[in-house]
Amino acid sequence: MRMIDLIEKKQHNESLTESEIKWMIEHYTSDDIPDYQMSAMAMAIYFKGMNNEERSALTMAMVESGDQIDLSPIEGVKVDKHSTGGVGDTTTLVLAPLVASVGIPVAKMSGRGLGHTGGTIDKLEAVPGFDVEVTQEKFVELVNKNKVAVVGQSGNLTPADKKMYALRDVTGTVESIPLIASSIMSKKIAAGADAIVLDVKTGAGAFMKNVDQAKELAETMVNIGEAVGRNTMAVISDMSQPLGNAIGNGLEVKEAIDTLKGHGPKDLTELCLVLGSQMAYLGGVGSSLDEARAKLEENLHNGKALDVFRTFIDAQGGDASVADNPDSVLPKAKYTQEVKAEESGKVSEIVADQIGISAMMLGAGRETKESELDLAAGLYIHKKIGDVVEKGETIVTLYSNKEIKEEVSEKIIKNIKISDEATEPTLIHEIIQ
Ligand code: URA
Ligand code: CA
Repeated sequence: MRMIDLIEKKQHNESLTESEIKWMIEHYTSDDIPDYQMSAMAMAIYFKGMNNEERSALTMAMVESGDQIDLSPIEGVKVDKHSTGGVGDTTTLVLAPLVASVGIPVAKMSGRGLGHTGGTIDKLEAVPGFDVEVTQEKFVELVNKNKVAVVGQSGNLTPADKKMYALRDVTGTVESIPLIASSIMSKKIAAGADAIVLDVKTGAGAFMKNVDQAKELAETMVNIGEAVGRNTMAVISDMSQPLGNAIGNGLEVKEAIDTLKGHGPKDLTELCLVLGSQMAYLGGVGSSLDEARAKLEENLHNGKALDVFRTFIDAQGGDASVADNPDSVLPKAKYTQEVKAEESGKVSEIVADQIGISAMMLGAGRETKESELDLAAGLYIHKKIGDVVEKGETIVTLYSNKEIKEEVSEKIIKNIKISDEATEPTLIHEIIQ
C-alpha cells in the first residue's frame, strides 16, 4: 500500500476500506508515514468527510494504536461520560458518586488538562490527602468495593490520536466532525468503556458554537459507538453561560458537595440528572430514562449520594469531613474581591469563555502545561442569566492567592451584560440515543 494512493482516493471522494485505514494509522504511529502526507490526508478528510464505516474503522485503529485498559475484572456495565468541555463544568464530581449510588460502577480515568480550571483530577486534589495516582490493581479493587474511583490517566492510550491531534492543530484540520468524533470515541474505548454518555456543549464557551454543529457531532459519535458495539447516548447542552455558579478547583468541589446534598445550582443539578439517568439506564438501572432518573433524585435527597462521596474520598486518602465542612477543609484564598453591578436590570448575557479566562487569570487554570494551579482561586457568580440585579449589588466574588489585578474585574463587568429584558438559555437542546 502507498499513502499517496490513499490520499488521492480520499481526494476523489472515494471511501477508504477498513484495512487501508488500519494500515495508515499503524504506519503513521510508527513514524513510517511522514507528517506531510498525514496532513494532506487530514485536509482531504476535512473537505470530503468520511462515512460511518470509515469513521468506525478510524476509531478502532486509533484504539489499537496503544494500550487499552482492561476493566473486565470490574463487575457490571462500565459506563463512561465525556464532555466536549466547557466553563465551570462540575458534572463529573457530582456524577461519579451519584451514579455509583444506584449501583453502577464508575471507573473513571481523568486528565489534568489546560484551560479555565484544572481537570477533574486537579479539582479532587483540592481535597487534602486525595490521591489520584493509584495502581491498576488498586483501581479495580476500589471500584469493585465502593463502585467508584477516579484516577489520573496511566499507560500509553491512543498514541495515534495524540500525534494526529498535534498535527491537526497546526494544519487547520481540527474542525472536521469525523476527525473530532473518532478522536473522542477512541479515547473512551481505549479507557475501557462498555457504554458511553456524551455531553456535547454548544455556545460561546464551547468548541461547537451552534446547535446544528453540536448535533451533527453528537449523532456522528453515537453512530460510531453503536457500530463498534458500545451503547452510546448524547445530550446537547448549553454553554453560553458557565454551568453552575462556581468556577475554580476548590470552589467547584464545594459546589459538587452542595449538589450532592440536593441544593446545588439549578442548571448543574438538572444536567447531572439528565446525564446520570443516561449512565444509569445504559448500566441497567430502570426500564426507562425516567425510572433511572427517579432513583438518582431519591439518592440526592436521602443522603445516599453524599455517603458514596464520603466513602470515595476516604478510600483514596482524602479528608472525607470535606462533605460536612467544605469551608474549613478546602484551601482558602488570601485575597477576595467583590465585583458589583454598574446598573440595575436583568442579567442578559454571561459570556462563558471570557468569564472562564478571568478565572484562569486568577490562577484557577493553566495557561501552559507548566503553570502551577492555585486550588483556592476562581470566581463565584451570584447572578445568572434572567436574574434581577440592583446597581451596586455583588454579581461575582473573585478568589486568589495573588493580589487581584483590576483587569480581572474589568473583564467581568464587560462580559456580564445587564439589560431591561433577558431570556434564559435552554439548558438541554436535545437528547440523542
Ligand atoms: N477534542 C478531542 O478530544 N479531539 C478532537 O479532535 C477535538 C476535541
Ligand atoms: Ca460550576
